[in-house]
Amino acid sequence: MAFNIAILISGNGSNMLEIIKAYKDGQINSKVIAVISNNPIAKGIKKAKTQGIITKIINHNEFDNLKDFEESLSDYLEKKKINLVCLAGFMKVLSRDFTIKWNKKILNIHPSLLPSFKGLNTHKRAIEKNVKYTGCTVHFVDESIDSGEIIDQEIVKILKSDTDISLKKKVLMKEHKLYIRVIKKLEKKIG
Ligand code: GRF
Repeated sequence: MAFNIAILISGNGSNMLEIIKAYKDGQINSKVIAVISNNPIAKGIKKAKTQGIITKIINHNEFDNLKDFEESLSDYLEKKKINLVCLAGFMKVLSRDFTIKWNKKILNIHPSLLPSFKGLNTHKRAIEKNVKYTGCTVHFVDESIDSGEIIDQEIVKILKSDTDISLKKKVLMKEHKLYIRVIKKLEKKIG
């Protein structure tokens, strides 16, 4: 199976870039059709453009409510015949209706070993809790935050010398590999 992928971002877009590269190198069979950002000044937009990928801004602030924003998002995904949505640093929480409509078609990457450390500031919290291992998780997105079915994870050992900044770097490197691995896995599973 080869998916038509849309990557949703709000910021930096390093995971996005890895997925685009994997598509261009032929590491994955799926195609990156578009990058969508809800943030008009996300750094990732320029990076996607440089890679020759179609970009689309759907700024949630320009809609009266979440429902209208999501309708516009759904319309665009349908128009582009997207069948796999990869959230990569997308900072908008999606509604129950939207996640039901796109059930098992939205992936998210989260910088912790879920179900531990849902939400924000995961690295700082992991260090404060004195856990020995952290990592990252790719999961299907459902109506609850960082709670959908886990597809795969990568582990990172936390050293005494680690800070949230050093840990973020280490985890991000693992995230980049993990996202590609998961897409490959889904291509096989569904194909
Ligand atoms: C990553 O740590 C990801 O796990 C989280 O947001 C961050 C996005 O980083 N959801 P980037 O924009 O892909 O560089």
